[in-house]
Amino acid sequence: MESTLQQHKQVKHSVTRVVQLSDCHLGADQDFMLAGINTFHSFKQSLSEIEGSQKTPSLIAVTGDIASVGNQRTYQLFSSAMLSSQLPYAWLPGNHDDFSLMKASALQPFTRFVELGGWVAIFLVSAVPGEVYGEISDTELTELDDLLKQYGDRNIVLFVHHPPAPINCKWLDQQRITNSEQFGDLVARHKNVRALFSGHVHQENESIWQGLPVYSVPSTCFQFASGSDTFELSDLPPGYRWIDLYPDGRIETGVERLNYDMGKMDRSCLGY
Ligand SMILES: [Fe+2]
Repeated sequence: MESTLQQHKQVKHSVTRVVQLSDCHLGADQDFMLAGINTFHSFKQSLSEIEGSQKTPSLIAVTGDIASVGNQRTYQLFSSAMLSSQLPYAWLPGNHDDFSLMKASALQPFTRFVELGGWVAIFLVSAVPGEVYGEISDTELTELDDLLKQYGDRNIVLFVHHPPAPINCKWLDQQRITNSEQFGDLVARHKNVRALFSGHVHQENESIWQGLPVYSVPSTCFQFASGSDTFELSDLPPGYRWIDLYPDGRIETGVERLNYDMGKMDRSCLGY
């Protein structure tokens, strides 16, 4: 009995928790509102809930659209909030971000990958300057291929802003990674990639794409209605995704929602 307990403890201990935050849509100051929501407030509350949770994450993966509009002050605001949380994090840009400005003004540099024991989290850029849709450039694909070869003996999770697969929202599905077939072929050649986590769609979704489990996450501010053909908000509260990485290559994941008053959300908002 005792040895079973010890084994159990050992297994529990070796689980690595990553938390995914996405689509924060922060403004240049703390009072910025979007669709009736103070996006800094909901972002800060997300961080507070993660800090207060029982399992301390080894990494916060922030998957883009950190800014509503790319601005130096916005990235400084983001950086100082992350710094005061003391949570370890890595970020990647979304279509609303200005990647060059972000690299110049965020406190923490862009990180291509983070080693997490037997796992490696790889951060890919799908944002195309001036465009809403996603694309993985040839340079990104080459770097990914090299990393997957280099870490052939580790389990891999991929993070990217745009989803590669449809989520059953016509307007958002048009914005998914345009060269997802080429991207998927590359990923399928490496058998150690366990899952992909995206942002952009402001809603929880999961599916299998090219044999790989793919997940999306709610935004830290307002949500989009699931199953909608056109832009439509949902009154679901902000959320984040927890991802538990097991030494044997298994992943467990789920979404947590904040206890957040969405009563002031402006449902007449026609875009973002
Ligand atoms: Fe986006």
